[in-house]
Amino acid sequence: MKTPIEIIKIGNLTLKNNLFLSPMAQIGNMAFRLLCLEGGAGMLFTEMISAESLFYSNKKSFEMLRMAPEEKYTAIQIFGSKKESMAQAAKTCQLRGACAVDINAGCPVKKIMRSGSGAMLMKNPRLLSEIVGYVKKAVNIPVTVKLRSSFAEGEIASPSHARICEDAGANAVTVHARSVASGHSGKVDFRALELTAKAVKIPLIGNGGVKTAEDAQKMFNAGCSAVSIGRAAASDPFIFKRIQDQLEGKEEKDTSPREKIDLFLKFLKLNCNLYGPKWGIVRARKLVGYWLKNMPNAALLRASFMEAESLEDAEKTFRKWTEK
Ligand SMILES: Cc1cc2nc3c(=O)[nH]c(=O)nc-3n(C[C@H](O)[C@H](O)[C@H](O)COP(=O)(O)O)c2cc1C
Repeated sequence: MKTPIEIIKIGNLTLKNNLFLSPMAQIGNMAFRLLCLEGGAGMLFTEMISAESLFYSNKKSFEMLRMAPEEKYTAIQIFGSKKESMAQAAKTCQLRGACAVDINAGCPVKKIMRSGSGAMLMKNPRLLSEIVGYVKKAVNIPVTVKLRSSFAEGEIASPSHARICEDAGANAVTVHARSVASGHSGKVDFRALELTAKAVKIPLIGNGGVKTAEDAQKMFNAGCSAVSIGRAAASDPFIFKRIQDQLEGKEEKDTSPREKIDLFLKFLKLNCNLYGPKWGIVRARKLVGYWLKNMPNAALLRASFMEAESLEDAEKTFRKWTEK
């Protein structure tokens, strides 16, 4: 059978493959993205960044824009509900070297939705269209939009919303095929993906629950041009290579627990370079739970990592574990 892994074009961008890293707040920083790039991701999305904060020159948000020179295929994701600040933020992303700008229209977090941003844009199709149009006019790089398959459980909204985005100038849409109401859990709606793929000409990036090559294949079968992986990449940034190898019929190799620990220590070093010796460790706390998932004694190891305040502490914790 022909492999679904292929070079893909999004606007004027040509990407080496169609397995992407999903945007993940407090996880998808430069250090983590570099590992996913090494792990074979064809395109990478940053964690979401507030357009308003960029507009008001918030230091922390500007820090989140940092990208390594080798990040040629990293898109920056922005969220907001004002077309002017979204357009301005998109210009900033372009200046900072983003390969594309991604509009968050799928975040179910209450605080984000209360401000009219994230998934709330799906309730306001006119504003969604205006924002996509404004952002598109502001930049030369491709514009993508991340949607949900529906707002409420049992409905399908993504085909019409993807059309709205396409008509307003979007170069691709991602559909996280779960309702806004179901958050990040619940069944993935393949029917919604099928209908969305039929509704638009631009590439559809499918997302939700992909952990294996079979999961990815199901999304390609539903008509997706690319597949985006979130939590399974936070557990193993080399998942992209593994899925690609398996779908290309090559022998694939699982990352061993020891290799995962070595990789995590590499990540910590990069994170400390990015945030400094203390915050590099503290800011890895969100990721560690995903990373250690399914490893022997994961709960104990995670608990002792939470106490670490320096790279040396973390190294000691992990070395003790690998020497057991
Ligand atoms: C910790 C965490 C942070 C996330 N942050 C974002 C975000 O900043 N922007 C976004 O569009 N989606 C965000 N998501 C959603 C993911 O991009 C993805 O859509 C979701 O996890 C489903 O994919 P998965 O089943 O492969 O994890 C986040 C998910 C998680 C678990």
